[in-house]
Amino acid sequence: MRISVIGSGYVGLITGVCLAKLGNKVTLVDIDKEKVEAVNNRISPICEEGLREILREVSIEASTEYQRIMGSELIFICVGTPSNEDGAISLEYVAKAAEQIAETLKRKEGYCVICVKSTVTPGTTEELVIPVLEKSGRRVGIDFGVCMSPEFLREGKAIRDFMNPARVIIGEYDKSSGDKLLDVYRDFPAPFLRTNLRTAEIIKLASNAFLATKISFMNEIGNICKQLGIDTYEVAKGMGFDDRIGSKFLNAGIGFGGSCLPKDLKMLIGRAREIGYEPAVLEEVLKLNEAQALKLVEALKKHVPLKNSVIGLLGLAFKPGTDDVRSSSAIKIVEALLQEGALVKAYDPLAVKNFSKLFPRIEYVTKEEVLNSDAILIVTEWEEFNNLDYRGKIVIDGRRVLKAKEARIYEGVCW
Ligand code: UDX
Repeated sequence: MRISVIGSGYVGLITGVCLAKLGNKVTLVDIDKEKVEAVNNRISPICEEGLREILREVSIEASTEYQRIMGSELIFICVGTPSNEDGAISLEYVAKAAEQIAETLKRKEGYCVICVKSTVTPGTTEELVIPVLEKSGRRVGIDFGVCMSPEFLREGKAIRDFMNPARVIIGEYDKSSGDKLLDVYRDFPAPFLRTNLRTAEIIKLASNAFLATKISFMNEIGNICKQLGIDTYEVAKGMGFDDRIGSKFLNAGIGFGGSCLPKDLKMLIGRAREIGYEPAVLEEVLKLNEAQALKLVEALKKHVPLKNSVIGLLGLAFKPGTDDVRSSSAIKIVEALLQEGALVKAYDPLAVKNFSKLFPRIEYVTKEEVLNSDAILIVTEWEEFNNLDYRGKIVIDGRRVLKAKEARIYEGVCW
């Protein structure tokens, strides 16, 4: 099938290359010339397992020109939906993409389907995207179809997740729209749910809000267990045998970060408040997460005075396997350390470049040099941190790196 993907950020790029790998003829459209050139030169603009190889293998073209979508039967909108601190999201890029598609629709022959993949608040596809598309003079359900099909890609495992999804959600304006999308996804070994547009939109937000809730819940249990002298990880193991609970996402620590969980949670809270509902559980999940990272600094203060001490950080990325530092717990931790007058040294195998844009003045060193600090904080659970020699050191662990227990002084954030 001839497919266009608007936006070559995380979701767009992965969607584009994976659909090309499945034999479709894919065109990526992005306003960012650098990204377009990178894709056309087969250079991966993001750090993602397997992406470099797949980019070299597939036939895919990228362009800044919207008219390249003209021959497509299916057009995915995968542009960003940035949010501000209070959770309000900007739908500006989604609206712009829809406007540009509408321009093309005016001159386009034949039926095509526009599918929103960007994470948006419930109602966006019906209330914003469809009216903008109809400005073309073409009518939804007759001249073109509309779907909303969210992605659940995890950074670092995005290609694997795309090819082996846990589920495929097809939000459809009408049956013809959904049938077109199904043509592409048909062979995926996953359960399918065909539903309406706004249900698909909220499934994405509710899924990420639930994952965030699981983490904050375990962090709270951890905070209680620590005071009672109980090992939270053993508690999680005992709980996880119950398949109604499940054993995944029960790792207590310094909280969740990344580009999705915090943002999607805030988006859902924002939308609930807009309609006059106070989402008490969701608000508390977020509040707990804000406080959790700072517990690592509180624990540290019991062992070392922060003023003028050298504090070493192991890990800066929001999780292992990525160079992404968006909403990483490391940000809150470094801010607190600097505020208290500590001297910060940090190591991360991938994320130094991105972190140094936020904190150009802290020292970026090798992991061995981090070990020579007055105290060490473990912020990201990179596998390589299990091979360090912590003997004689003071270690405060935010992510449960078992080897660090050999330290002279070892304290877990919530175990
Ligand atoms: C997440 C969702 O998993 C994915 O389905 C969605 O589409 C995008 O958001 P991602 O942001 O890549 O994916 O990260 P994920 O692996 O879910 O981890 C999120 C954060 O939670 C990380 O900071 C991680 O350290 C933290 N986490 C995860 C915990 O603190 N404990 C856990 O048990 C699991």
